[in-house]
Amino acid sequence: MTRIVAIANQKGGVGKTTTTINLAAGVAREGYRVLLLDIDSQANATSGLGVDKNAGDGSVYDVLLGDGAATNYIKATQYENLDLLPSEPDLAGAEIEIATSGNIQYRLRDGLAPLRETGTYDFIFIDCPPSLGIIVTNALVAADSVLIPLQTEYFALEGLSMITDLINRIIDNDLNPELELEGIVMTMYDKRTNLANEVVGEVWKAFGEYTYEYAIPRSVKISESPGYGEPVLYYAKNSTGAYAYEKVVEEFIKRNRARDEGTPHQYDSLEVTGDGVPSDAESPETNQQET
Ligand SMILES: Nc1ncnc2c1ncn2[C@@H]1O[C@H](COP(=O)(O)OP(=O)(O)OP(=O)(O)O)[C@@H](O)[C@H]1O
Ligand SMILES: [Mg+2]
Repeated sequence: MTRIVAIANQKGGVGKTTTTINLAAGVAREGYRVLLLDIDSQANATSGLGVDKNAGDGSVYDVLLGDGAATNYIKATQYENLDLLPSEPDLAGAEIEIATSGNIQYRLRDGLAPLRETGTYDFIFIDCPPSLGIIVTNALVAADSVLIPLQTEYFALEGLSMITDLINRIIDNDLNPELELEGIVMTMYDKRTNLANEVVGEVWKAFGEYTYEYAIPRSVKISESPGYGEPVLYYAKNSTGAYAYEKVVEEFIKRNRARDEGTPHQYDSLEVTGDGVPSDAESPETNQQET
């Protein structure tokens, strides 16, 4: 069975793409067959995996416009088990083109249907653009669940209601009645600030068990990695950022196993531990204070 997870938050720059790339790469490294689907015209996930976004040989844009099956445009990446359905800058015009054609909310779902049928992938991760328009709606209609990256800062929760409202509308209007919340992953967490810790507390209060135990800290290595076309998991595998994403990958897999087995997810501890410094740190780098 294929599980399709949309990574979404209408707020820009909260770590959607970074989380998608590292989750996809990390889950693939564990042996699962993974497809990363880039539906943002910025194509950051495409270039973040070292793939040319201006290749001009087809992208998710063609799938959204109904010009072909997704399988025609999938590319292998340099990582085992990880394929990419790239985006391209042209996608920026797709909102309008889709809106003036028929069947507009179901384009992506229909385009992915053959992949679901053949069970080619265990997981498909969709990197959404920072909006709540028709393209994101397509993603949420096609997906089984939504994972929301949340930057630990003021107004983070306020903005969150916009995406949860869209999720509820999609469920209530029968566009995708089975859509689930996969979880909330807190990003750019700085454990030294009271504000970040307050936000963490509020997220726990509001979302309880959906909150991922491990928050992603601010990390220089994470911000450098897209420039090298690599997930931080590979670019700087002993860094605090890579460690944190490894923990999120671990938790994602654990939660999915628990769900498949019909057992509730068990937390290791009931505390967000986003310092990124493992108690059994092997690398000196993990002890550096990053800013
Ligand atoms: N934990 C982190 N520490 C430091 N920098 C980060 C971290 N996560 C992401 N970044 C950097 O912050 C910027 C925004 O991250 P990213 O592109 O993942 O966000 P996004 O939500 O996908 O943005 P957009 O809404 O534009 O698609 C990028 O330059 C990225 O490298
Ligand atoms: Mg992005």
